[in-house]
Amino acid sequence: MQILDGKKIAAKRRAILKTQISEDFKTYQRAPKLVILLIGGDEPSLIYVKHKLVAAQEVGIEAELLTFDAKVSTTTIYTEIEKLNNDPTVDGILLQLPIPKKFNEEDYLQAIDPLKDADGFNYQNQGKMLQGYDSIFPSTPLGVINLLSEYQIDVQGMNATVIGTSNIVGKPLCVMLSNLGATVTMCNINTKKILDHTINADLIISATGSKFIVKEKMVKVGAVVVDVGIIRDQKTQKLVGDVDFEHVAQKTSFITPVPGGVGPMTIVTLLENTHKLYLKHVK
Ligand code: GUN
Repeated sequence: MQILDGKKIAAKRRAILKTQISEDFKTYQRAPKLVILLIGGDEPSLIYVKHKLVAAQEVGIEAELLTFDAKVSTTTIYTEIEKLNNDPTVDGILLQLPIPKKFNEEDYLQAIDPLKDADGFNYQNQGKMLQGYDSIFPSTPLGVINLLSEYQIDVQGMNATVIGTSNIVGKPLCVMLSNLGATVTMCNINTKKILDHTINADLIISATGSKFIVKEKMVKVGAVVVDVGIIRDQKTQKLVGDVDFEHVAQKTSFITPVPGGVGPMTIVTLLENTHKLYLKHVK
């Protein structure tokens, strides 16, 4: 069994990106810029956003955080997005999710210019992805794909089972895996017996946020297992994942840890997306 070391790979990719950005700075005379919008005081979001800001600054991306009270008006948010869309120094815009329920998440996300959509959540970017064209891909699923690729794991021809069908992770991941030639099974909350869909899988990716939903008996010997879940264990206060790592790991060929697996890959991929958008703007 080998650990898919997202922390190490992300650090390597950040170093490469930092060099590219410093070279680009010489050519284009400005740094890439990412603006993050945070609405309401969601605690985990605040922590994620801080990690994103620190990582951006580390590689030479100018990063700005705009925070709004949960009582902010819809007009204020639209006006801010419009201002950022029209600001030629801004390359990427990210609306941190979740936002308070009273707001229309879909409308806000679609208000972001597709050419500044650092998260790849815009219909245009998702449509291109669905049809197999180059696009801005959502950070977590692309981070997973890049992590596998860094370990020379070729998904073409694999039976891949994805557990969880969110717009942020599960759905785009299924599309990306299918575009790469995997045979994909999507499990959702209504799936009757998940084991039936995982036991023959060469690749299992779980993105539900339910502690230890993936158990030893569900995994084929030699499978690759990727854990996108990140949950604070109430008993131990430690971070755990969807996968019962202690018992599952021994059966796998490759497995991601939590923390230090997919999480750091998500962040570096966001930075790579911002750089990709920047190049579209400066070239
Ligand atoms: N909240 C959890 N994951 C994500 C993500 O990838 N992007 C945004 N914008 N919000 C998130």
